[in-house]
Amino acid sequence: MVKLVVTDKDGRDVAVDARPGLSIMENIRDLPRSVEAICGGLCSCATCHVLIDTEWISRLPPRRYEERIMLDRSRAYDVARSRLSCQIKVTDALEGLRLTVAPDEP
Ligand code: FES
Repeated sequence: MVKLVVTDKDGRDVAVDARPGLSIMENIRDLPRSVEAICGGLCSCATCHVLIDTEWISRLPPRRYEERIMLDRSRAYDVARSRLSCQIKVTDALEGLRLTVAPDEP
């Protein structure tokens, strides 16, 4: 398991033992006040939007075009930190990753 620290929509930090090989979204969607992930990971809803802590950004694979398009439509889009959590696979290299669930879109 890989330890992630997730700040939920209420600002609470939650430690998650994530399963490698699954996406971050798949590992955090069952937490209370977490991502909704309406499309189930198809990169077509952006309800799995998270903000990655700055020091982790360079250790993640780059955004694909489709991910950038979806994030661009979000009000909470942070060009430096925003990611779709369904597009990032958990690996052992992410041990200790910290992220914040993006606020609900109005
Ligand atoms: S779950 Fe829909 S874009 Fe990630």
